[in-house]
Amino acid sequence: MKTSLYATLQKKIIFVTLIVSLAPLFILGITIYQQFSRMYRAKVEEQIEYRARAQAEAVDLFLKERTAILAAIADTHTFQEIIDDKNLSQLFQIMNLRAGAFVDLGVISNSGQHLAYVGPYELKGLNYYQQDWFGEVMSKGIYISDVYLGYRQLPHFIIAIKRQEGQNSWILRATIDPDIFGAIVRAAQVGKTGDAFIINREGSYQTRPRFDGQILSPSKLDPHLFGGRTTLVEKEGSGGESILYAGSWLKNDKWLLVISQEIAEEMTGLFGTRNVMIAILALGIAAIVCTTIGITRVTVNRLRDADSQMNALNAQLMQSDKLAALGKMAAGVAHEINNPLAVILQKTGWIEDLLMEEDFQRSKNLEEFKNSIKKIEEHVERARKVVHNMLGYARKMEPHMEDVDINDTVGQTISILNNYARINNIEILTELAQDLPIIASDQAQLQQVFLNLISNAIDAIGKDGRVLVKSVRAGSELEVSVTDTGKGIPEELQKRVFDPFFTTKETGKGTGLGLWVSYNIIEKMGGTIFVRSKVGEGTTFTVKLPIIIPEKK
Ligand SMILES: Nc1ncnc2c1ncn2[C@@H]1O[C@H](COP(=O)(O)OP(=O)(O)O)[C@@H](O)[C@H]1O
Ligand SMILES: [Mg+2]
Repeated sequence: MKTSLYATLQKKIIFVTLIVSLAPLFILGITIYQQFSRMYRAKVEEQIEYRARAQAEAVDLFLKERTAILAAIADTHTFQEIIDDKNLSQLFQIMNLRAGAFVDLGVISNSGQHLAYVGPYELKGLNYYQQDWFGEVMSKGIYISDVYLGYRQLPHFIIAIKRQEGQNSWILRATIDPDIFGAIVRAAQVGKTGDAFIINREGSYQTRPRFDGQILSPSKLDPHLFGGRTTLVEKEGSGGESILYAGSWLKNDKWLLVISQEIAEEMTGLFGTRNVMIAILALGIAAIVCTTIGITRVTVNRLRDADSQMNALNAQLMQSDKLAALGKMAAGVAHEINNPLAVILQKTGWIEDLLMEEDFQRSKNLEEFKNSIKKIEEHVERARKVVHNMLGYARKMEPHMEDVDINDTVGQTISILNNYARINNIEILTELAQDLPIIASDQAQLQQVFLNLISNAIDAIGKDGRVLVKSVRAGSELEVSVTDTGKGIPEELQKRVFDPFFTTKETGKGTGLGLWVSYNIIEKMGGTIFVRSKVGEGTTFTVKLPIIIPEKK
């Protein structure tokens, strides 16, 4: 009942403390993590956006350079010079030397006829009049095509410049190596899932993507989602993963450079941080839980100890109250009995005297009378002894102070009992501390206490055994203990041994007053007396006396 009370208290304290200390920790952890992941996400987006823009600028620059070279050549050469195969071939070499990425170079007349050509394909003599790009370049002057298959039936794109030379006009056209161009675009791809490619306004790949797709095949991206210069779009990939796309339109406004990245891969740094955070949190929680449980246990145990000490104190208080009340009553009773006893004794004396007279001497019951009177006297004597003990205690309540050497007092008491002990083959041993101070106390009363304790010990042993009397200084008190190897006192009787008239001895042997008187004497002196006993092993009675240093005379 009592234990469950403490257990519940302990549980409650632990529960409340844990809630109060862990809740803020959790809230803080979650808030920090959310804030941090938002920041992290923003950073990731910013970075991919930046990469898309930077790569678009690089590609723009690439195209601008190629266009500029082509324009410069067209501007600085006449039609006659340029259609000369040797010249054209030389120019082609210079272009590739200075800029690179050109696959071929050709001159086309304003009627669409391919007049001169340097390159790996057989294109000379073909007519481009019907082709889309031809119309575009004739009307715009400069034209960069989308990727298309053309006569060569391979994906490629061209840069074409129209040169107006007097009445005549012609077109200088170069093909860009799709592999080199693709490689430049792909330079922006990072990580295991990153990609970089270009799509046109219809959503067809203009460079080969890293994953599932070919040049000219349709991409899954809708270019209309991307407005402005650079736009971020989040889409679900084929495996359900979230992919972030950053699209940046090139200057020609036809091509969209796209950088893509799986969000999960970009966020691995964050997940690492999250795991560290969870680990720290777990350690923190473990520490808090352990400390809370530990401290609560210690506190509740202290509380329990304090409670039980208080209970013991209360019990002791009740015990001494009870003994005091009993003492007063017993003293009153003893006094009342004392007078009738005196009268009985006086009257039996008188009857004894009368028995000496002749009449009675002749009576045949004379011996009977004498025996009866002896019995009466004996029992009155016993009653007087009890009364005397009680009255003696009641009258001599105030101790008579003198210088007392405890060890001497113990020694004298033992010498009184030694004979009696030896007869029963009981050895009385002593362990007396030698540095004990002389105290102010009542030697006769102390001797009575020790006499009670040692004779009780001898009684408890009966025959064959040992009694050990110890004296020792314990702080501000002197301690005298009497230990025997007797039969011990059962637990339930231990609190009754100090009660007046409590005895387990047969009538005539014990009065049950010895320990009661001892208890009262020691208490009057400001000391304590208590018992420790185990049935079958023995008993120790301990007397503790305050050290009162005698006044100098
Ligand atoms: N050393 C002891 N060992 C076992 N029992 C003891 C011891 N001292 C006292 N007792 C028990 O306490 C009872 C009361 O002792 P006490 O007050 O001296 O009265 P009495 O000796 O007259 O019986 C004894 O009857 C005995 O049962
Ligand atoms: Mg006794």
